[in-house]
Amino acid sequence: MYVLGIETSCDETAASVVYKGRKICSHIIASSIKLHAKYGGVIPEIASRAQLEYINFVVDRAIKKSGVKIGDLDLIAVTKGPGLIGSLLVGISFAKALSFANKIPIIGVDHVQSHIYAPFLSSNGHKQSPKFPFVGLIVSGGHTSLYYFKNFDKFEVLGETLDDAAGEAFDKVAKLLRLGYPGGPLVEKIAQGGNHKAYNFGCSNNGNLNFSFSGVKTAVLYKIRDIERIGMLSRKQASDLAASFQQSVVASLVDKAITAALRKKAKDLVVGGGVAANKYFRAQLRKQAENKGIKVFIAENRLCTDNASMVAGLGYQLYRLGKRDNLNFKPILY
Ligand code: KG4
Ligand code: ZN
Repeated sequence: MYVLGIETSCDETAASVVYKGRKICSHIIASSIKLHAKYGGVIPEIASRAQLEYINFVVDRAIKKSGVKIGDLDLIAVTKGPGLIGSLLVGISFAKALSFANKIPIIGVDHVQSHIYAPFLSSNGHKQSPKFPFVGLIVSGGHTSLYYFKNFDKFEVLGETLDDAAGEAFDKVAKLLRLGYPGGPLVEKIAQGGNHKAYNFGCSNNGNLNFSFSGVKTAVLYKIRDIERIGMLSRKQASDLAASFQQSVVASLVDKAITAALRKKAKDLVVGGGVAANKYFRAQLRKQAENKGIKVFIAENRLCTDNASMVAGLGYQLYRLGKRDNLNFKPILY
């Protein structure tokens, strides 16, 4: 079964063809990120205009590269939200038109949950997959959530962020350190040369499985103000601030994810979302989870950030479980 996935929730326009929910036959991504860099964050109007410009080309490329003809596609899976409404509407409208014109079934897929599907995918279709029930951690620019998955369509939310998402906190701290946008990879880069014990930015540990990252971000802001009252922020100080911030966020993510897995007696921990590309996070999570006998599944980097292969993959699984959509489904914006 060949599934075409389409993802346009934010500033990436992505299309993929995936075979049987496992094997990536094509994986195309166009991004408008450079157009947003000078504003320090995504501008929705610019993002949706870029989606319109790229979508035709990206979907066409994904189908051609897969070697599959449109008529041989068995399903179209498209991100239905959450995301930017203008961007979402481009992908959804395009997918609906393609479905209608070619009589291909369509299914709308939740963007946050699709991030959890990334570790199930590979280029050759051969990969050890997580086993249900598992705990899922999604760490992206818009969401930080812990789930307990009994199946792809049966899950409960164990915890969420009470304020900023983890990726959002990385982006805001990058802005404070004047590093540019998107901030995650830039903070990770300068943190490499820094001392993570230089500053103590403990993330609030509220004793439950919810996250909070706005306090640590504000602590970084106050520390920068303190330093700049006396002189200029040095490169060493910026590296130490980045390393201490990263350590604090990662400690909170790792601690709560492992606590959730232990509480639920889940043997597998599945992680997705842009922040999962962070090397320090990956290493800490693997080390600490393995000490507790928990197996960690994190996708390769290109599948951690927004892409359409994860949408096609989750769409395939939901379709097999009997889920169907008609052409009237609406975007979700929560
Ligand atoms: O999953 P994603 O591509 O988009 C959303 O659905 O939000 O995640 C993007 C987020 C951004 O906030 C970006 O700064 C963060 O993931 N990110 C990282 C890294 N790479 C991307 N954060 C920390 N370290 C990284 N290496
Ligand atoms: Zn995402």
